[in-house]
Amino acid sequence: PDITIDPKDGLLFGTTSLKIIAEQYGSPSWIINSDILKSRYERLNQAFKNKQLDVSIHYAMKANGHLAILDLLAKEGAGADIVSGGELKRALKTNIPASKICFSGVGKTEDELRLAVETEIGQINVESREELHQLSKIAQKVGKNAAICLRINPDVDAKTHHKITTGLAENKFGIAYQQAITVYKEAYQLPNITPLGFDVHIGSQISSTTPYRQAFLRMVDLIKAARTQGYDVTTLDCGGGFGISYQNEPEANPEDIAALMKEVLAPLDLKLGIEPGRWLIGPSGLLISKVLIRKDNGPNTPPFIIIDAAMNDLIRPAMYEAWHGILPISPEAYLRPSEALHIDGPVCESGDVFARDRILPSLQPGDYIAIFDAGAYGSVMSSTYNARPLAAQIMTKGSQSAIIQPRQTIEDLWKNELVPSWYPNNI
Ligand code: LLP
Repeated sequence: PDITIDPKDGLLFGTTSLKIIAEQYGSPSWIINSDILKSRYERLNQAFKNKQLDVSIHYAMKANGHLAILDLLAKEGAGADIVSGGELKRALKTNIPASKICFSGVGKTEDELRLAVETEIGQINVESREELHQLSKIAQKVGKNAAICLRINPDVDAKTHHKITTGLAENKFGIAYQQAITVYKEAYQLPNITPLGFDVHIGSQISSTTPYRQAFLRMVDLIKAARTQGYDVTTLDCGGGFGISYQNEPEANPEDIAALMKEVLAPLDLKLGIEPGRWLIGPSGLLISKVLIRKDNGPNTPPFIIIDAAMNDLIRPAMYEAWHGILPISPEAYLRPSEALHIDGPVCESGDVFARDRILPSLQPGDYIAIFDAGAYGSVMSSTYNARPLAAQIMTKGSQSAIIQPRQTIEDLWKNELVPSWYPNNI
């Protein structure tokens, strides 16, 4: 992450002083640095321009679909990769043109497909033969054409966490590689379907270009075979999954990905698309939390530092054993000796863990800390487990900051709960 430790101001996130933000907004709070997000988008976009590649960037908004983030990316020219009707409406709300929206997902409802056809989104990524037939019927009823890509499962190992691997034959995603041509031919025969080409997404948090090369080469074979048999293929959606550096894994490098696409895909003269989520928003965000208590449980374990953020806020460590960088925010903390610490949330589960044996300046109650690279799959995966209100969300730009989602109140938690009047009750 873009972090510096200033001896006077403490932790800086880009140019944002986290000490000022923590004191102003309290904790736990999500921070999105819009300058970092903008510059990451520009770098990604530029990498393709430099290679004269025609690549549409569809931001995978599942990573963080907050309206303020979509609005910024829409102004930069991004489209959106969506996975639900809710995401479709969010994207349209921020004026992302329908033509720049693509719809992924292995189980779309009839209502969602109808909305997609009615609003004439640019591309529906169809994940099965069954979905293709269903879509054709819906499009006939609506009286419009559905532009589609077939998502193909290339049976390639992305070498990432098993819970976020999607391109192996054993995964539920996409149409089996061996069936691809047959289903593509069917797409040409079905009414109200406009076949554009193919889509491939092999997983998330991928650090090397090797699995992309393997997947792209398989797609090249497929596209050539389809063309030889007389079927047009104009589009290839290359998916997302570009990894970031949480600990010491190499961050995926847009310039390397662009070079790979130039080498392997440019000769086919295709419209190319990508669906990055994490790479854009992950390092652009972090979570501020405060130390509640420091528990000394004896000589056999490092002290337990219990903080006011928990697995209900950031579930990644509990769910994927994910490693997130953590540092104290105040400059004074850096004058203290370092020690090994366990960092945990207060939720009543042993899995509510943020770090084990982490070497940090000695943390004390009241210290603010920052948990890095939490912009992607952070706030969007939050829950209110243990009746813990959703954290505040703050966006910064230069020295400015603004609340983009106020901290939830306790009363908000039951505002939509109803108690039947079957028996006298006390509410
Ligand atoms: N396209 C499709 C079809 C996807 O399924 C995904 C992510 C993306 C694009 C964006 O992938 P990205 O560029 O963000 O890696 N909650 C997990 C990650 C789940 C990813 C799901 N699909 C985590 O916190 O690591």
